[in-house]
Amino acid sequence: MDRALQEVRLAAGPAELETVRVKYLGRKGVLRDIMDKLKTVPAAERPELGRLANDFKMALTAALEERRAACATVRATARTGQFDVTLPGMWRGLGARHPVSMIIEETIRIFGRLGFTVADGPDIETEYHNFDALNTPADHPSRDIQDTFWLDSGRLLRTQTSPVQIRVMESQPPPVRIIAPGRCYRRDTTDATHSANFHQVEGLYVERRVSLADLKGDLTFFAREMMGPDVKVRFRPHYFPFTEPSVEYDFSCHLCRGRGCRVCKQSGWIEISGAGMVNPKVFQTVGYDAEACTGYAFGMGVERIAMIKYGVEDIRLFYDNDVRFLEQFA
Ligand code: PHE
Repeated sequence: MDRALQEVRLAAGPAELETVRVKYLGRKGVLRDIMDKLKTVPAAERPELGRLANDFKMALTAALEERRAACATVRATARTGQFDVTLPGMWRGLGARHPVSMIIEETIRIFGRLGFTVADGPDIETEYHNFDALNTPADHPSRDIQDTFWLDSGRLLRTQTSPVQIRVMESQPPPVRIIAPGRCYRRDTTDATHSANFHQVEGLYVERRVSLADLKGDLTFFAREMMGPDVKVRFRPHYFPFTEPSVEYDFSCHLCRGRGCRVCKQSGWIEISGAGMVNPKVFQTVGYDAEACTGYAFGMGVERIAMIKYGVEDIRLFYDNDVRFLEQFA
């Protein structure tokens, strides 16, 4: 029965439908055969088989009728040049979430568990928010024309998500506990690990008594949640104008488990983020009482995390929009 109905569905026009009808319901057709055989089965089974044969005939007749009507409509629309709604559709394929978005969503989830909410700031920033308020002196190398995309208006494309720290503190009193994911722009020459456009997630926690131990604890918690319990975290002293003391923190390379590979450049470690204790000068600039509050801040590279988490050896793959690459994350 299924086969017969399938043939009806596949029939392209009236002629083929007639062939199907003759094959099953015709004078020498399948149904006739079955009826003949009916005479040879035991009398007790005859009514049941007879009923099945009858059901088959009814179902097939109805299907034939329906398909015949559909074919007639197709012919009519073809004549009038209208769109043929009975044609099978074209398969466009399903999209998937971008790996960068997946890391950002996961980061929001993990810090959400620590009580952080999401904040946002503009991609086009003022020099004040991106540099001055972050205690970045005019002669700091990152203010060099080489590193920053300046716009005609005197504004710039933010080189980091740190200006969101300033905007949040300008708009609310302490305590603050936010993360701010977003795009950043730098005049970097693109290669396997650099891109002129990349993503960071900024974090800022301001309270009465926040310490470096909180920073280390929270970032270690984040690393384990993101990469699994085996990941190791390393903090190295560093310098940022807006934090004091400053650190950089690294994940042990997930791909080679710290043994050394191409992605971690044989070092066993991947640099993930800059971080540190908020510089009191920044608190003064935004009008916070630098005596009364302390805080930590960090800014981590989203693509870096995605590269080691998913084993992607070239940052450019994230922006090429090659569906063969992207559909692996579906
Ligand atoms: N904004 C710094 C960068 O882009 C990272 C950072 C953020 C460092 C917050 C300390 C505190 O490298």
